[in-house]
Amino acid sequence: MDWGPLSDAAIAVRDNAYAPFSGFKVGAAVRTRAGLIFSGCNIENRSFGATICAERFAVGSAISAGETGIEGVVVVTDTTPPSPPCGLCLQVLAEFGDADLPILLLNLQGERLESRLGDFLPHPFQFPSPT
Ligand code: THU
Repeated sequence: MDWGPLSDAAIAVRDNAYAPFSGFKVGAAVRTRAGLIFSGCNIENRSFGATICAERFAVGSAISAGETGIEGVVVVTDTTPPSPPCGLCLQVLAEFGDADLPILLLNLQGERLESRLGDFLPHPFQFPSPT
């Protein structure tokens, strides 16, 4: 996995995060199976439940552009160690990526933690197929 362009996109979009309530800025970028990159930042709202996470924004951008699957994810935060996606975002990633989907967590100090979706969410919710 060439993480360079995906990391650059996630770092750049983090600057656009709208996080006046938590002060916690997040940038995310996904590479689609077609090789395109989509990014997103967290956008908070004073009605807190209306807040959208960076990862779900990035996935939504990809899917709404007509992409069908995700093959790599970078998440950038300013924590030590770098923060993983929340449970909601993991479930959304599981909708469009496999358990072996590579996820790179970065912080602004250059720390890198590379793992896979299945490490964070070994048992995603599965909707039973209609019979
Ligand atoms: N946040 C994300 O952007 N991604 C996550 O996976 C977890 C949390 C954002 C939402 C909110 O704006 C801030 O981080 C604090 O929860």
